[in-house]
Amino acid sequence: MMIHKSRREKLLNQIEDNGLIILSTNPENIRNGDVLYPFRPDSDFWYLTGFKEPECIAVISKDNYSIFLRERDPEREIWDGERLGVSRANEALMSDNAFPISELNQKLPQLISKSEHIYFDIDNTYRGSEILEMIPKSKLKSIKHLINEMRLHKDEHEISLMRHAASISVKAHELAMQKVRSGMFEYEITSLFDQIFRANNAEHAYPPIVAGGKNSCILHYINNDQELHENDLLLIDSGCEYEGYASDITRTFPVSGKFSNAQKEIYSIVLEAQKVAIDEMYVGNNIRAPHFEASRVIKEGLISIGLMKPNDDIRKFYMHGTGHWLGMDVHDVGDYNIEDSPRRFEEGMVMTVEPGIYIRGDAKIDTKFHNIGIRIEDDVLITKNGPEVLTGSLVKEIDDIESIMTK
Ligand code: GLY
Ligand code: MN
Ligand code: MN
Repeated sequence: MMIHKSRREKLLNQIEDNGLIILSTNPENIRNGDVLYPFRPDSDFWYLTGFKEPECIAVISKDNYSIFLRERDPEREIWDGERLGVSRANEALMSDNAFPISELNQKLPQLISKSEHIYFDIDNTYRGSEILEMIPKSKLKSIKHLINEMRLHKDEHEISLMRHAASISVKAHELAMQKVRSGMFEYEITSLFDQIFRANNAEHAYPPIVAGGKNSCILHYINNDQELHENDLLLIDSGCEYEGYASDITRTFPVSGKFSNAQKEIYSIVLEAQKVAIDEMYVGNNIRAPHFEASRVIKEGLISIGLMKPNDDIRKFYMHGTGHWLGMDVHDVGDYNIEDSPRRFEEGMVMTVEPGIYIRGDAKIDTKFHNIGIRIEDDVLITKNGPEVLTGSLVKEIDDIESIMTK
């Protein structure tokens, strides 16, 4: 909780002395009937409070930190488990005041009245419209951008959690490479990720993509219910979240354990694109440079094997970006531009690097290339010594993949 306190202090130091920040986490969501989705706290709220219960509001200023939370409820706790409750909150959360969430309407206006600058963002916010009504329009400001910038620059604690998340995901991808056989179904491979993630107290950071054959060309394929065939490639985009931090890995490999020549040709272009992109990820460089370089290599490669002409649009085969910020959210917060220009890499930023080539069936394209969808994705921490690939222990060279698969 100390780390969250120092984050609150750092945030408060960036606003007026008597500024007041209101943060809210989400309630639980109904899946169907009486069944709820597993609860996952709001990322900003978790980042600044360390508290993981639903239906809470934090009110933060330089001289007071108040938390509104659910009261203890012996009847509900029999069903849903123990709640922290009001009387234990100050000690556990390092807050000054703890109030039942049921007193929000009564207490929050008093707290608000003490400040001229109220920082609050309504988007997706629990009890957002009620809170907004309590804030005089002239006092209202947005805090989101300052929090985003803090979350974009990962501290040591966050980096160690991200390394751990990455290492769990690496294990799961390795297992998938070892276990896959033709005749299996995509969901059987998905279950290996479920198992490794849960066995390490982690969960999926996003719905996994386990895409065999032509499904590898569907960017957000999540049905994962088709049979895998001997000559198929299998594209797996899966990463776990550990203690609120995501990893995001894609590997593509042949179900048979041996790449065909056509698969090798395309794979080699994507791999080369990924490596040149990673080389661009250093402090001070333009954050768009990895995409420019990956796109250049992909275009040159596709021209050299006759799949593209110099004036063709690369987006026919490569229609997404090369990376995104990674952190508590898989597509993490943080601006990509500053005043309309791409920003520069700084220490502590984490970005994915995920070039791909997707070739759907097309009468004009040699059939040996049909249904080849290849993406290679790693997670890269920017350090003062250059890029550190957090997921770098997972094989991606053709020989290394073939060798791990046939062991
Ligand atoms: N897994 C989501 C992405 O790669 O962006
Ligand atoms: Mn990604
Ligand atoms: Mn991904």
